[in-house]
Amino acid sequence: NYYAVIMAGGVGSRFWPVSTPEFPKQFHDMLGSGDTLIQKTFKRLSQVVPKENILILSHENYQEIVKEQLPSVETDNIILEPDMRNTAPCILYAAMKIKKKNPDAVMVVAPSDHWIEDELQFVSNLQRTFDVCERDKVLMTLGILPTFPNTGYGYIEFNKLDSRPIKKVVQFREKPDYVTARKFVQSRHFLWNSGIFIWSISSILDAFSEFQPVMTELFDQGYNLLNTPAEKAFIEENYSKAENISIDYAVMEKANNVYVLPATFDWNDLGTWGSLYDKLPKDDNDNAVVNATAFFNNATNNIVRTAKGKVVVVDGLNDYIIVDKDDILLLYPKKKEQEIKVVSQQVTDKL
Ligand code: GDD
Ligand code: MG
Repeated sequence: NYYAVIMAGGVGSRFWPVSTPEFPKQFHDMLGSGDTLIQKTFKRLSQVVPKENILILSHENYQEIVKEQLPSVETDNIILEPDMRNTAPCILYAAMKIKKKNPDAVMVVAPSDHWIEDELQFVSNLQRTFDVCERDKVLMTLGILPTFPNTGYGYIEFNKLDSRPIKKVVQFREKPDYVTARKFVQSRHFLWNSGIFIWSISSILDAFSEFQPVMTELFDQGYNLLNTPAEKAFIEENYSKAENISIDYAVMEKANNVYVLPATFDWNDLGTWGSLYDKLPKDDNDNAVVNATAFFNNATNNIVRTAKGKVVVVDGLNDYIIVDKDDILLLYPKKKEQEIKVVSQQVTDKL
């Protein structure tokens, strides 16, 4: 009864210029582990979910990359979206396809771009949430102990007096501003949303009907066509009509049957250069270097990455992201890393 949906349709624009719309970060080996992030994710999930029940959701443009990186995945399990509409439409689409195969299924939805070191703990956490979702009509997420006011995450408020391992969520707030995030972290009543969700097909589809009736109606019209040869034409014609919205805003912030299991594994979103910096080994001055020979003077807390092992000399620069790739050189303060998403867009538009 277990299914998994790996979401691999994002463009990872805060990791520009290495991650690009043509070749997003989930298809890169960001940490030099030998596997790309999506390959890692697939291996991790296949410890709990049978391989034939793992679906990859991605944009049409990435079909070839997905096939090449995950050759053991059947073509039918690679689900292609004609348009980037964020995570809510893709989750609804996948859930409806799974319902047609197995209405009693329980599914995990996982991003394709995380780094999790302790796979044993991950597997045991996931198994535990599957057990709960088979029994109860709930929406579950794995929560992470926050370490700083990161405005790129969702925040989950739980009742601190609740001593049970799985906690009822009081409030789910997606990407709060800095001041709010700081308040949340200080209160110690909040966890970060890992973006890994677990629920039964009926729980998530009921939540969509309640909170996203228009989107549900749209996909319902094609329900009979799903998993048939007529599916593609229906999706090509209708997918773009779905609202561009993430599951966090579309459902998680609105539902009141959300529960969280605080994760016992280490977790890194690998969403930004700073998060990659955190994972990398550093020199005595806390500089991290990937694919380069770097010389530092009066320089601390920098991350340097080049495409082809360049020599890089840095003097008088602290807390910077220094990334060299083909025609692009990025020098950006680490503390403004969230802006790279917007900046990369502005630059690309002008090129
Ligand atoms: N198939 C598909 N289609 N996948 C998508 C799409 C889409 O249109 N858009 C994004 N994705 C994939 C991304 O590739 C990524 O693996 C995952 O969905 C999450 O999208 P992100 O764009 O990376 O979301 P986020 O990091 O800003 O926020 C989410 O994750 C955080 C933790 O990493 C939220 O769930 C936050 O609440 C959470 O804290
Ligand atoms: Mg992300």
